Amino acid sequence: MDELKEMTPLDLKKETSPAEFKKIIDYLKKGENRSVVFETVHTRKNGSKYPVEVRLQLHDDNMGKVFVAVIVDITERKKAEDSVRRSLESLIKTLSVLVESRDPYTYGHQKRVSELATAIAARLFADDTQGKDKIESVRVAALLHDIGKNAVPTEILTKPIQLNKIEFELVREHARQGYEILKDVYFPWPIAEIVRQHHERLDGSGYPDKLTGDSICLEARIIAVADVVEAMSSHRPYRAALGIDAALEEIRKNAGRLYDTTIVKACLEVFKEGFEFSD
Ligand SMILES: [Fe+2]
Repeated sequence: MDELKEMTPLDLKKETSPAEFKKIIDYLKKGENRSVVFETVHTRKNGSKYPVEVRLQLHDDNMGKVFVAVIVDITERKKAEDSVRRSLESLIKTLSVLVESRDPYTYGHQKRVSELATAIAARLFADDTQGKDKIESVRVAALLHDIGKNAVPTEILTKPIQLNKIEFELVREHARQGYEILKDVYFPWPIAEIVRQHHERLDGSGYPDKLTGDSICLEARIIAVADVVEAMSSHRPYRAALGIDAALEEIRKNAGRLYDTTIVKACLEVFKEGFEFSD
């Protein structure tokens, strides 16, 4: 308690980035009796650290301006959150691997699409206050985007020659099937809808709903680009890998018609900066 009494908001600076801290202080100074709630880390005298929630208010009265801070130790809450997050993560990864286990040729496809889609999203949302959340929704949706292939017969998924029309239609059904599988699973993001839209194309030539332009959600437009790049650069039962250069040429050539121009640009930049699929 004595430690806390001696603290000022400036003591929070050590564990909160200077830019973030300045944003908080500027916000408090702009209005009367405003308050901000944020999480940071405190250090005990012995050097050990623990997570805290800070409720900070700039109190202005005839005594002058005073910062009032209520600091709560949230170690237990963080442990509970972490345990829920880890359970969800292991469930997502298990589902992701499960669908791919039926098709050895696309093993790891969703993981690699997720890596690239996440890198693109991180670039697009770098300055967005809701960025972290959007990046996370892209990462998770990409890990599950082909879950509907579970409903496609294995002989069709692994067929070493081009599919006929009926077989092709069955494969296309996976976008809608993915939505059906995920629509009742609770996620903090619209994962089922993103999965449903990952084969839609800007000009309406995609499926299952022939959506156009901005009516396709941004997360699905990102996954569409990452999906094409990964699929073209990997081996498939009916053709050899075409390579990254051919894949990037495909999205460059069709930017604005099939794929979102801003997303294509971000994808090309991500590769220019050395992005590589993990395996
Ligand atoms: Fe797909």
